[in-house]
Amino acid sequence: MGNVNHTPHINASVGDFAKTVLMPGDPLRSKFIAENFLEGARLVNNVRSVQGYTGLYKGERVSVMASGMGMPSIGIYSYELFKFFGVENIIRIGSCGGLSESVKMRDIIVGMGACTTSNFAVQYSLEGTFAPIGSYNIMKTVIEEAERIGARYKVGNLLSSDIFYNANPAASQKWTDMGVLGVEMEAAALYMTAAYCKKNALAICTVSDHLLTGESTTAEERQTSFTEMMEVALNTAIRL
Ligand code: HPA
Repeated sequence: MGNVNHTPHINASVGDFAKTVLMPGDPLRSKFIAENFLEGARLVNNVRSVQGYTGLYKGERVSVMASGMGMPSIGIYSYELFKFFGVENIIRIGSCGGLSESVKMRDIIVGMGACTTSNFAVQYSLEGTFAPIGSYNIMKTVIEEAERIGARYKVGNLLSSDIFYNANPAASQKWTDMGVLGVEMEAAALYMTAAYCKKNALAICTVSDHLLTGESTTAEERQTSFTEMMEVALNTAIRL
């Protein structure tokens, strides 16, 4: 055990986390990944039941910890991991709503950029707007791994929204008109935190529902597409 490092939201020792952390939104998904994909996984954080594990994938150390939902939540966890636990790379593995005709249910959207409705960037006091982008190096590796296993993927813009139940039902069409591929709630905060901390991040999301067609996936379909995305993310993690 190294130094115990209590941050407000993570209770672990320095060195408990691998240099690359996969981040699903859901803590139980984190546990599922640890139990089904990692060897010798050890629980390294459990504050607020936000389970973080470190184990081996193909002999390499990889961590997985949940982000919770929304920009405030992933903003907290990514900042603490980058700043206090020596983490270099975070790959968000999430789900999103499809916003474009070019994306189909269960496709993987690789978030090259992340637009947002949030005020998260105000803290940086920029005289203009910041364009949150994913890490090119992680993205390149993700695309190679997706190609290798024949996963269906699209690279482009995500929208990180602060609102799931929008009182204005027409709001999403405007983002569709701008060519945004999918809507989720975390990527932009992750990208900005990585930029500020001089670290690397990427969000990849499977399309779990479609705002243009009204389709949604069954739990079983979500599991299958999730497994494919996991394989891409894990094989990427061990190459970073
Ligand atoms: N909106 C926001 N986040 C989401 C959605 C959505 O439609 N689907 C999955 N995550």
